[in-house]
Parts: sequence; C-alpha cells; structure tokens
Amino acid sequence: MNDMRIGITNQKGGVAKTTNTINVAGALAELGHDVIAVDADPQGYLTNRLGHNNAYTTNADSLFEALKEPRDYDIGRDLAVSHPEFDILPAHVDMFRAEQELIAAGWKPRERLSLLFDHGGIDDWDIAVVDAPPSLGPINDNVLLACEGILVPVETDEMMQLALEHLLNQIETLEQRYDTQIKERGILVSDVNYPLDNEQQRMLDWFEDTFGGRCPVFEIAHRVAIARSIKQGGSIFGEDAEDTDMTDVYLAVAEEVASHA
Ligand SMILES: Nc1ncnc2c1ncn2[C@@H]1O[C@H](COP(=O)(O)OP(=O)(O)OP(=O)(O)O)[C@@H](O)[C@H]1O
Ligand SMILES: [Mg+2]
Repeated sequence: MNDMRIGITNQKGGVAKTTNTINVAGALAELGHDVIAVDADPQGYLTNRLGHNNAYTTNADSLFEALKEPRDYDIGRDLAVSHPEFDILPAHVDMFRAEQELIAAGWKPRERLSLLFDHGGIDDWDIAVVDAPPSLGPINDNVLLACEGILVPVETDEMMQLALEHLLNQIETLEQRYDTQIKERGILVSDVNYPLDNEQQRMLDWFEDTFGGRCPVFEIAHRVAIARSIKQGGSIFGEDAEDTDMTDVYLAVAEEVASHA
C-alpha cells in the first residue's frame, strides 16, 4: 500500500513530534511535493506556531466539526489554510472535547480522521503529514488508523523503551481489531546533544538493534536554528530560515517517506 499519509506519533510529551512534523513537511515541499500538514493535537501548537491562531479559535466549522461529520466536509474548500511552504489542516481548541463528544454520541470514535481523509479529498495533496497528540487516547488512534505509515520521534533517555513498548502494543491492537497495517517508516532520534554520554549511546544502539531491520533510524541534532525557525513560523526550509546542517537529515527523512508514497 502507498503511504500518502504519514503520522508523527509518540504518546510521550515533548519528544519533538511537532518540530519534526513541520520540518518533514518542509523537506517534502522542498523536494517538490504538494504537502498538507495536519494538526491532530488539541493543543494546536503546530497551528499556532505556523501563524494560524485565528483558525484555532474560529467560530466557523473546523476539524472538530469535521471529525463528527467527516462525510460533510471538503478539506481543501472548508478547512485548509495556507502557509508559504505547505498547506495546513489546523487544529481547533474544541478538539479537547472531541473524544468525550464522539463517545457520548455513540459513534465509533476511532476512524473519524480516516473517514474525513477518504471523503474530504486528502488525495488532492501528494502527501499528508499528521502531528499526533501526546496521549494514547482515541485521537492518537484516529491518527494511526488514518495513516499507512508512521515516523516515531524518540529521545535518548531510558524511559523511551517503555514508551515505545506501549506504542507498539497499541499499534498491534489496532492492526488486529481493524484489519489494517501501520508501518514504521523511520525512527527520528531527536534533539540529540553531542558528544553522547554512555546512556545516550546505549539508547542509540538499542534503537538500531530494535528497529534497524524494519526502518531507518535517523539522528537529528539539537540546533538553535531548528527551534528558532519554528518561533518564526516555518521550517528550516523556509525562505528566511538560517542555514543548518540538519537540512540534509530532514531531506533524507523526506526521501524515505516519499519512496513509499
Ligand atoms: N532538534 C532540535 N533542536 C532544538 N530544539 C528542538 C529540537 N527538537 C525539538 N526541540 C525543542 O523541543 C521542544 C519540544 O518539541 P515539540 O514541541 O516539537 O515536542 P512535541 O513532542 O510536539 O511536544 P508535545 O508532546 O507537547 O506535543 C520545543 O521547545 C522544540 O523547540
Ligand atoms: Mg506537539
């Protein structure tokens, strides 16, 4: 199956999901793909960072309503907003309530994003890159079920092994229950500070041993230019971004993603 939709997921907080979503989307756009970045996190950091605070609090219909009635919305016409590098499907603050509302309404709450993508014309774009929330709840399940492939950002601390075990168990449960396949397309070891200490080296070896046979393991160094470009509202591929050696790494991630699309 082709990976037109890539989820960036890890339920652990602050492991660079949003940073990687923005830069992988930027790198795919740099390679010439027509990209939409989807903000599936109710916190809406991607939406707000990329300059769409109005969309995050709008009174007009948003991703929140679209998750309730996914057959009634066209993503391009009704929901997407633009950005110099790629389009964005913004999050909305009401999405904090989405899970309870979906369950209270008696809807199957886990396949809403997938339905929206199928009925709402996500194929108008070459690739969708989806920023997942820091939780293993129903919204993350929506992201996993809507995406054929995932990139998993990790950091080099020991608790990451446990976090990944939980994520992989959840993926296996969904694959069995929904008769689908969700493929790891890359592990993004993120915000790495060099030189590595022993614990970091041990974790890098563990990522390579555990995932190396299944997908590439990329190392993304801590760079001020990465944090700064996001504060300025774009990726490191944006017009005003400072030069950084991490563009090569993100382009390699984007090439890997695109090779499955
Ligand atoms: N390679 C990097 N270089 C410098 N700073 C980075 C890098 N990667 C991530 N950061 C910083 O780490 C912090 C957390 O990143 P980010 O918000 O992307 O994590 P997240 O997983 O999306 O968080 P949450 O779980 O809250 O959604 C941010 O302040 C970000 O700027
Ligand atoms: Mg985030």
